[in-house]
Amino acid sequence: MQDHPQTYASATPSLVSFTGQLQGEWTIRSMETLTGASLPIAQALHVASADALAGPVSWRLTAFTSNLRYTTAAEASMLQARQSGLGRSEAVHGALIPIQKNAAWWALAQDERREIYQERSRHTSIGAEYLPQIARRLHHCRDLGGPFDFLTWFEFAPEHEPLFDQMLARMRASEEWRYIDREIDIRVVRNAA
Ligand code: HEM
Repeated sequence: MQDHPQTYASATPSLVSFTGQLQGEWTIRSMETLTGASLPIAQALHVASADALAGPVSWRLTAFTSNLRYTTAAEASMLQARQSGLGRSEAVHGALIPIQKNAAWWALAQDERREIYQERSRHTSIGAEYLPQIARRLHHCRDLGGPFDFLTWFEFAPEHEPLFDQMLARMRASEEWRYIDREIDIRVVRNAA
């Protein structure tokens, strides 16, 4: 993970590619399709700020970091105070979870989406309970026209994987997740340097 902003959201968008291929800095431990169509099997994941890689790939998903949409100033400073950055030496486990939301979600107005996302589903509140152990970065891709709307990326130490699973179980039981019609949970481990 180099040349990327280490913060969760950035005012200047930065393009990031996640490529499933034979070799890469992260070895894929599992790929579980929770909803919708799966992706082809791949052995390794390469994360790069540009998609200038040569060689055969199983899939390449590209997205960009962006500004916040649903976060209040108070929530942003709470998150800023608690969160950890990517690339911590102990955080050798990772998860790439591409997500697509359905037409009903995108037909809602911004205030209606915020109501479901935080007021009713408590996404930010639940997530904040798992900081700083779980580091994360959200990437947007709906506007690029690809198969997903978001590529969510997480890094954590192996002993915190049960915490990560617990957080996912709580979020997946929420009202927000009823609007998700494609989700694939790809777990990886960073290869020794
Ligand atoms: C580690 C704890 C987490 C925290 C603190 C957290 C926090 C946030 C925040 C603050 C936003 C809103 C960004 C904005 O204002 O635009 C957001 C959006 C999002 N998060 Fe999380 N999150 C966490 C975990 C997760 C997990 C586990 C997933 C999925 C597997 C996830 C998926 C998403 C998605 C897809 C969005 C975009 C929602 C949309 O714009 O419709 N987050 N998250």
